[in-house]
Amino acid sequence: MEIKTIDFYYFSGTGNTLLVVNKMVETFEKRGISVDLCKLEESNPEDINLNKTIGLAFPVAGLSTYPFVWQFLDSLPPANGTSVFMVDTLGEYSGGIVGPLHNKLKKKGYNPIGACEIIMPWNIFYIQNKKAKRKRIDKGLKKAEKFAFGLTEGKSNWGNFPILPFIIYKIGLFIMGLWELKSQQKWFGFKAKKSKCNQCGICAEICPINNIEIDEYPVYKCKCQFCMRCVSFCPQKAIPCKINYKGKTHRAVKVKEFIK
Ligand SMILES: Cc1cc2nc3c(=O)[nH]c(=O)nc-3n(C[C@H](O)[C@H](O)[C@H](O)COP(=O)(O)O)c2cc1C
Repeated sequence: MEIKTIDFYYFSGTGNTLLVVNKMVETFEKRGISVDLCKLEESNPEDINLNKTIGLAFPVAGLSTYPFVWQFLDSLPPANGTSVFMVDTLGEYSGGIVGPLHNKLKKKGYNPIGACEIIMPWNIFYIQNKKAKRKRIDKGLKKAEKFAFGLTEGKSNWGNFPILPFIIYKIGLFIMGLWELKSQQKWFGFKAKKSKCNQCGICAEICPINNIEIDEYPVYKCKCQFCMRCVSFCPQKAIPCKINYKGKTHRAVKVKEFIK
């Protein structure tokens, strides 16, 4: 089916997914397809326009993706053949997304036309040096361009998968569920250092799930999903990340992309 217009819903914690989305938009527009970009965290899934092709983009987290992204995907309305494609970005391995999402969308009446997973720099645990990151980004963006081009040519696919992805999907949900436990939030949750924080409020403004309140200093509520945005974009580097090697952080774009 020919793609005419696209509503492209995306979430990006630290910018990798946004780079991929921007490259795909550039490719679509070169081919005369108009694209509306929509921030997933600011969109109501029930309001999507089923007469357009729908694009979905998000990062991998815990072999799957963030619970609030699944919530969005699970809340998409029933459709009657609306074409949909997905792209995720990852550090190395996901496993629990492409197959399960294919089935969910198919069951709702969508037409899944293409899925692609794109390796980009890690934004957690081990943050690579600039050169290694650049190499991954360049390769990732080439893959994004090729995928977008394939979609416009009707040459992409979103295959069906055997049982393993569904097991990994369940493991992913379990892992993400653990992170939401109060004890995890307490031990791994973020906290701004008052000695460094200049009370600018950027962390609260860019948190996709409004988990941060400013009460003189940032106060984290108990539902952090560890997308790394506040940590990575704090202009004062005042939010330490215990789980990253040497506390390093990664960001692929400028913070203005996420200011509401
Ligand atoms: C909490 C968390 C969990 C992650 N889990 C995985 C994972 O299971 N597999 C993987 O390959 N990458 C994983 N990553 C790496 C990200 O998927 C990858 O760096 C992605 O490109 C980040 O995209 P973004 O900058 O758009 O947020 C994880 C990152 C975070 C923050």
